[in-house]
Amino acid sequence: MSELSIITGKSSYDIARRVSKKMKANLVRSQIRVFADGESKITLSGKISERKSIVVQSIYPPVDTNLIHALSLISKAKETSSEVIAVIPYMGYARQDREFLSGEIVTMKVLGKLFRGAGASKIIVVDIHSKIGLGHFPIKTKNISAIPELVHHIRDLNLKDPLVISPDQGGKERAKEFAKELGSEYIALEKKRDRKTGKVQIKTKNLGEVANRDLILVDDMISTGGSIVKATQFLKKQKCRKVYVACTHALLMNDAEKRIRKAGVAKIISTNTIPGKTSIVDISKIIAKVI
Ligand code: R5P
Repeated sequence: MSELSIITGKSSYDIARRVSKKMKANLVRSQIRVFADGESKITLSGKISERKSIVVQSIYPPVDTNLIHALSLISKAKETSSEVIAVIPYMGYARQDREFLSGEIVTMKVLGKLFRGAGASKIIVVDIHSKIGLGHFPIKTKNISAIPELVHHIRDLNLKDPLVISPDQGGKERAKEFAKELGSEYIALEKKRDRKTGKVQIKTKNLGEVANRDLILVDDMISTGGSIVKATQFLKKQKCRKVYVACTHALLMNDAEKRIRKAGVAKIISTNTIPGKTSIVDISKIIAKVI
């Protein structure tokens, strides 16, 4: 029997297939049947290694369904494999890593317990929103950066005097890493989000250094698109040239993509942690390397 099984959930089939090919590992597929009440019945096809299994499953919408699938796959793998590693390319709930308002549940703490309870001894994620979230996991953790892969694609655009911009201070380190890889400068805007309504405002005032330059807005994720829309509208007023967006996880909920384009973004580039129109950067190579 193969030394290593790659078990794929429905949300990350493409990544899992590519990883298993690169690693010449056995791919175990899952079939999902949804009952009338919404419950999932998951059936695996293929042999699970007694030594080590890697479960690959992103937790994007439907978030809770994909989460229970991930936990179920880990639990099943653990019945056979002595070691089970969870690869969660997009980690849903990662933004719920602290109690912002009194009484809020830090869901990342709950997930840590669930992943350990299901049988995972390690979790590997890609560009997690913040490392604080992983700090709640009582198992080994590894965060992989997709920035070199994103930069590779941005380079092909031949930008004029590029400047990397984070839409908020929380993303400053990310922008710094991106700029270093690209060989450019970076800045971080001041963003304020209303914790009750979710509405976003850009607090930065004038920004002379963006005029006549091509800009790359860098973020870990786009959900409603609010952060990118507000940042782009502000930057356009500062007379910049083109605005590009590079992000790892493009959820692009509802009409986010349309609103981002309307705000003046020339191109959105994201990775295949979440499959979609903009997900042109493949991260299977970096996952295979880390495994
Ligand atoms: C927030 O700090 C994150 O890094 C993203 O900027 C944010 O989650 C994006 O969400 P939305 O697209 O809804 O503004």
